[in-house]
Amino acid sequence: MAVRVGVLGATGAVGQRLIQLLDPHPDFEIAALTASEASAGKTYRQAAKWRVDSPIPDAVADMTVTATDPDAVPDDVDMLFSSLPSSIGADVEPGFCEAGYVVSSNSSNGRMDDDIPLVIPEVNPDHLDLLAVQRDERGWDGAMVKNPNCSTITFVPTLAALTEYGLEKVHVSTLQAVSGAGYDGVSSMEIIDNAVPYIGGEEDKLETESRKLLGEFDGAELTHNGMDVAASCNRIPTIDGHLENVWVETEEDLTADAAAEAMREYPSLDLRSSPEPLIHVFEDPDRPQPRMDRTLGDGMAIAAGGLQESPFGLQYNCLAHNTIRGAAGASVLNGELLLENGYI
Ligand SMILES: NC(=O)c1ccc[n+]([C@@H]2O[C@H](COP(=O)([O-])OP(=O)(O)OC[C@H]3O[C@@H](n4cnc5c(N)ncnc54)[C@H](OP(=O)(O)O)[C@@H]3O)[C@@H](O)[C@H]2O)c1
Repeated sequence: MAVRVGVLGATGAVGQRLIQLLDPHPDFEIAALTASEASAGKTYRQAAKWRVDSPIPDAVADMTVTATDPDAVPDDVDMLFSSLPSSIGADVEPGFCEAGYVVSSNSSNGRMDDDIPLVIPEVNPDHLDLLAVQRDERGWDGAMVKNPNCSTITFVPTLAALTEYGLEKVHVSTLQAVSGAGYDGVSSMEIIDNAVPYIGGEEDKLETESRKLLGEFDGAELTHNGMDVAASCNRIPTIDGHLENVWVETEEDLTADAAAEAMREYPSLDLRSSPEPLIHVFEDPDRPQPRMDRTLGDGMAIAAGGLQESPFGLQYNCLAHNTIRGAAGASVLNGELLLENGYI
């Protein structure tokens, strides 16, 4: 039987992607939709300015959106996918966990807390065991799992494929799509015919979340990876798909051919939304490109290309769909992992 789930922040850019992915999902049934007070009481069709590339699912269009409050969500809902602004998530997500809900969240609040698992299932599924520590410390019947920032998810799987060479220094420069800022995030006057070399708070997320994701969990504590990471983040006028240029210095010698093989062979998982292969490595030096490659693996694959040796170590480019692999798909995948591991 499908697990009854709710979407917090269901009317936003990521919330709409969540609905697009959850509606046909055989393991989940959408049973609750929440948003701000301004949307509460409206049907989903009235409340959401639907902008994703498929029609609003019939089963969702006439559902009533409620306020984002545990009392407004039916008791028989077992899991919540959250795509709230992080300031709102910080206020309300803990209340849902306290009320017994398991929350798979996109919002950045709490991602770096010691007892909150930050998970990419193909990279660090064992970090989910932090939930025992979390329940112990917080006394929650529910639980909270986070997926990383969209630009972190794009490059970390490629690094995970290279860990056996000893990661020492990583430089990453991003070219991020406008959908990453949400519908009201970047005005057209700001971004058309332009590029903005600053995204507030983003560099820190890439630098810290990557070290947590590639850290080691010993059953009680998580030790972050010791590699140095420096990030530079740019907004560009693409709609979806974050492209990143990466330089990696390793302890052991690493050739471009060996890195390409390690990325190609890096295993995916047997979860419904895990793509096969996880990392698609291009031979063509001008790929990956956002418009052409963001939907690889139904938007869940990571694309890499341009691998070459440089004075600053291995150099390559990588790409992922920011609202699918980088957000909604990432939390659905975490939901599948929670289900497989008996947390639901
Ligand atoms: N976009 C991406 O690529 C991406 C990637 C990774 C992570 N994220 C994270 O995902 C979250 C959502 O991003 P987004 O791009 O979907 O934002 P968005 O388009 O602005 O949507 C925000 C959602 O939160 C709701 N909301 C706003 N204020 C609220 C309040 N006071 N109480 C309850 N609900 C409220 C909105 O409802 P109304 O419609 O009623 O205002 C809407 O449903 C953010 O934390 C973001 O950092 C986004």
